[in-house]
Amino acid sequence: MDFTALIDWYERHHRPLPWRETRDPYRIWLSEVILQQTRVAQGLAYYRRFEERFPTVVALAEAREDDVLKLWQGLGYYSRALNLHAAARQVAEQYGGLFPTRYEEVRALRGVGDYTAAAVVSFAADAPHAVVDGNVYRVLSRLSDIPTPIDTAAGKREFATVAAALLSDYLARRDHKGSGLYNQALMELGALVCTPRGAQCADCPLAGSCMALRSGTVGLRPVKRGKTAQTPRYFNYLHITDRRGRVAIRRRDREDIWQGLYEFPLIETAAETDFEALPVPLTGYVWEGSVRMPKHVLSHRVIHAVFHRLAIPDWDEMADLPDGWCVVPAERLDDYAVARLTELYLERQSV
Ligand code: ADE
Repeated sequence: MDFTALIDWYERHHRPLPWRETRDPYRIWLSEVILQQTRVAQGLAYYRRFEERFPTVVALAEAREDDVLKLWQGLGYYSRALNLHAAARQVAEQYGGLFPTRYEEVRALRGVGDYTAAAVVSFAADAPHAVVDGNVYRVLSRLSDIPTPIDTAAGKREFATVAAALLSDYLARRDHKGSGLYNQALMELGALVCTPRGAQCADCPLAGSCMALRSGTVGLRPVKRGKTAQTPRYFNYLHITDRRGRVAIRRRDREDIWQGLYEFPLIETAAETDFEALPVPLTGYVWEGSVRMPKHVLSHRVIHAVFHRLAIPDWDEMADLPDGWCVVPAERLDDYAVARLTELYLERQSV
């Protein structure tokens, strides 16, 4: 992974949020509990109110439960508020009001799971623990093109291992800026760029090493259990031509249908997707129209394919061609073995 690009991106683009301006583990923990099932826009106001009303963990511990619940009103999942209060009392009693920053101690507090413990100790004290939240699952599943479902025990183990290995690679660098910044950067990338739909791959600092972008599987990652084999597949092909009549193709190199055959660059998605929402790894093109193919039925799946026709000035002027793409004159396409689906499309084009 290009750590430098990730950290540079974070330093330029991150949202300035109040819990990022502090190293106080109490405030960081407070923000994480509030944000567990709440969007940042809504959580922000609650965080400010809690911080003002209970500036220290002792103040929170000494509050009446009714007052804590009242301040929580509107956030939902009230067990979080009760756990928040109970954990504050634990800190007051066991640690004399000094909020811990050791992973095991934070993890043992009421309502604190692996994610929150890693967030608190890394953000507050740069302890070497990788955070794995929904954003990070998505980023890592795409970066390494991991097909393991994230909602299984095996998936959780695998992602925890990948996340820990990446963090330790990062911390092994002489110019590293601590686990807190790194964790925040990965989360923020997932929140702002590597989003569930409409990922902005053209703006992504990690695009160069993203295996899913290379394989056209960004829209299929992360995988969740239950959504596999028998479901229909949605293929979005990019038929990109330059002024000299040259097109990009790539060879299917994955263990999947049509292995070894050639096709236009493909972005597979989990559902039918408009062109505007596709993570096109390219800039400076003009969209010239889309061709929706009839349902293409194979023995075990149905492929819904759309070919998007894009025009660019000149392949030779494109700075970096995505990995695996090769540029060939359109009239040489005949020399390459393609699947019947692509053949049908090409036949339509020449009519
Ligand atoms: N969501 C959960 N934790 C967050 C954090 N620390 N910053 C932004 N969004 C978050």
